[in-house]
Amino acid sequence: MADPTLKQTPPAGPGRPLSGRYFHNQDVFQQEQKSLFTGAWLCAGHSSELEEVGDYFTRYLGHEPLLFSRSEAGVQGFYNVCRHRGTRLVEAECGHGAKNFQCPYHAWTYGLDGTLIGAPRMRGVEGFDPAKLGLLPIPTEEWNGFIFYRLATPLESDAEPGSVAEQMLDFPDISAYGCEDLVSTSRKRYEVKANWKVLCQNYGECYHCALVHPQLNEISNYLSGGDQKQGDCFVGGPMTLNEGYNTMNMTGLTDRPSLPGVEEADERDVLFYNVYPNFLLSLHRDYVISHVLWPTGPETTTIVCDWLFHRDEAKQSDFDDSSEVEFWHVTNQQDWAICEQTQLGARSRGYRPVMYQEGEGCLAEFDRWYLGAMGDSGVLSADTLQIEKCSA
Ligand code: FES
Ligand SMILES: [Fe+2]
Repeated sequence: MADPTLKQTPPAGPGRPLSGRYFHNQDVFQQEQKSLFTGAWLCAGHSSELEEVGDYFTRYLGHEPLLFSRSEAGVQGFYNVCRHRGTRLVEAECGHGAKNFQCPYHAWTYGLDGTLIGAPRMRGVEGFDPAKLGLLPIPTEEWNGFIFYRLATPLESDAEPGSVAEQMLDFPDISAYGCEDLVSTSRKRYEVKANWKVLCQNYGECYHCALVHPQLNEISNYLSGGDQKQGDCFVGGPMTLNEGYNTMNMTGLTDRPSLPGVEEADERDVLFYNVYPNFLLSLHRDYVISHVLWPTGPETTTIVCDWLFHRDEAKQSDFDDSSEVEFWHVTNQQDWAICEQTQLGARSRGYRPVMYQEGEGCLAEFDRWYLGAMGDSGVLSADTLQIEKCSA
C-alpha cells in the first residue's frame, strides 16, 4: 500500500519536513548505512579520549562494533570482532592502561595495534598464519583534535581514501578555538529513543528554545541566530549571548578566560555546526562541546557528549566544569525528551508535516544534503521530488 504521507501536496513555504518513513523505516536505515555512513570520514570522538598508549573506547555504528585504541603507532581503529569465530572482542565502553585485547571466548589475544599475539593450541594448525589474522583495521585520521574514521565500501577496501581535510575543505576555519589543545573533562552518554535525524534537526534550530530551554533562552535569545552557513560537509551558524552574560552555563557568567585564539569581537558568539552526517560541534569562547550521534537503529541513537576545555585550564587546581556540564546536561535532556515525543508522532498515520518556519533554514538545507547523499535508491524518489519543489 502506498505510504499516505507521500500523497500530500507540498504547501508554499520555506520547505516541508521529510515524510515519516525516513524516521522509522528499516529499509531507509539500511540505505543510510550504505550511502551516508560508509565511504565518508565520520567523527568518532575527541583525540583526548585516547591520550595515552593503552587507552581505548568502543562504539556501535548501526550493527558495526568498532574499537578505537592508541598503541605506540598512534590512534587506530578496528572492527571490534575476533578473527577466530567473530565474537565481539571488547565489551567495555572505554578503558585505560590496556596491554592487549583478549577475546572472552577462546582467548585469542591481540596487541593494541591489532596484531594477533596469542592463540591457544593453534600452533601448527594447517593454514593458521597469525601475521594474516590481525584485527581488521579501519582507517583513522585526526582533524582539529578530533578522531575521524572511514568504513570502506567492499569495492574500495584496497583503495587509499582521500583525507579528512579534503572532505572538510569548505568547513569554516575554527583554528581560533584550538580544538587540538583541548581535553575532555566530562563525558556523558545518552540512549535516546529517536531517529538520528530527529536529533540533528533539533540541533539545527532554536525555534523551540523559548519553550523547551527557558534557561538557555535567558542567556541567548532564540532569535539571536546569525547568518546560516552551509557547505558540502556541514550546516550551522552562530547564536549570540544576551547582554550581561559571557558564557553558556548555569549562571551565564564565568571568570574563565577565552580560548587563546578567540578574538574579542567573536566572544559573544557561540557557533553551532552539524558536520554531516552525525557530528555536532558547539564552539563557545571558553570551551567546546561535541555530540557524536551513533545511530543504532531506525528509532534509537546513542549520543556521546564531551565537554572540552583548554588543557592548561583543565590542569588548574580549582578547575570546575560543573556549571557548564549541568547547563548542557539539562539542555540535552530537554532536547532528548522533545525528540522522543517527535519520534512517537513520526510513526503515526496522522503524521502530516506541514512546513519549516523561517528560522529552520538549516533543517531544509540538511534535508537537501541528505536526499542528495542518499541518491536515487528507488524508495527515495518521491521525497527527492518534494525537496526539489521546496527549493524552488
Ligand atoms: S571467537 Fe574469539 S577466540 Fe574464539
Ligand atoms: Fe534544543
